[in-house]
Amino acid sequence: MSASRTSARCSGVAERVVARGPGRVNLIGEHTDYNHGLALPFAIDRGVTVRAEPYEHATSTGAGAAEGHEGATIEAIAADLGERDVFPLDAPERAGGWRAFVRGTVAELQAAGHTLHPCRLTIEGDLPHGAGLSSSAALEAALCLALVEEEDVDRVELARLCSRVENDWVGAQTGLLDQLAVLCASEGHALRIDFRTLDLQPVPLELGGWQLVTIDSGASHEHAAGGYNERRAECAAACEALDIASLRDAGAVDRLPEPLGRRVRHVTTENARVEAMMHALASGDLSAAATLLDASHASLRDDYEASVPEVEATVGALKRAGAAGARMVGGGFGGSVLALFPPAVAPPPGALAVAPGPPARRLRAG
Ligand code: GLA
Repeated sequence: MSASRTSARCSGVAERVVARGPGRVNLIGEHTDYNHGLALPFAIDRGVTVRAEPYEHATSTGAGAAEGHEGATIEAIAADLGERDVFPLDAPERAGGWRAFVRGTVAELQAAGHTLHPCRLTIEGDLPHGAGLSSSAALEAALCLALVEEEDVDRVELARLCSRVENDWVGAQTGLLDQLAVLCASEGHALRIDFRTLDLQPVPLELGGWQLVTIDSGASHEHAAGGYNERRAECAAACEALDIASLRDAGAVDRLPEPLGRRVRHVTTENARVEAMMHALASGDLSAAATLLDASHASLRDDYEASVPEVEATVGALKRAGAAGARMVGGGFGGSVLALFPPAVAPPPGALAVAPGPPARRLRAG
């Protein structure tokens, strides 16, 4: 093995590391994370896989240098898109699209004290981008677990780090929901998250013959560009007007001008729906769970104004197909719809059955 090959090792522990980040579905608790509220997401089987392997030419004498980079580099390949990126390991520069996630994760890991090594990252996935199933957090988590030397990193810290990638490198002022769901979920369970305390509680998700499915509305979203950041700013404005630290502390909202009053009403009623969902699940009352999905959707549509015509059409189609409850998932303004079907009612063609799978993990090393 040559000296450059030795220095091209990945993750410090093995020649090759493969990590998988799952997508997530949020059962209920939408736009509550950045308001210190409650949510109940779970990880799903679909996700993003990152393979990190020695990059023999990743030094100043190799391919990286030939492409104008001095010193050690990282090569990243987005296999599904047929695109490639090469950037200096020590000082990744800003970029757009999927490159922002990779460069941001590399930079934030190093800023947090992790030692990274030059390597080639190959990214593949089976999660649709922009469909509200959090392909972003799946990618960030898989990148982290493929790149860090130690496997037993603090996952809440890692979630915060991934969130900084979204906020500071991608420009989406998203909260911690997706990253905590993807990194801290457990198989067979939803994860009750209290965003004020970061208390995480696994909740058995037993559906007794009922079925959860998602279906893509066909309207893609970009949190960095759409109404998401605007809603976040409105919540901050409401906090300022109410003189409270977060909307978790909001009570009566009649002192607020519209649309701030509606925004606050969504957040406070959504927190209550998360608690109600916990009761519905604990007592096996899936009809009540379905009713809560409908109520959450109505609140997101009418009070939070986060729906679009394609999402409304998809919810309508699912209800006509026999769904007992249906709602938009994720940040809204497009993306997927989640629906709960009673036993013996078949979901429509194109619906994706979703069940709680394992969290982000290394698949194999060596
Ligand atoms: C997106 C964001 C999350 C959360 C949801 C809405 O998925 O990434 O942080 O705010 O929207 O619940």
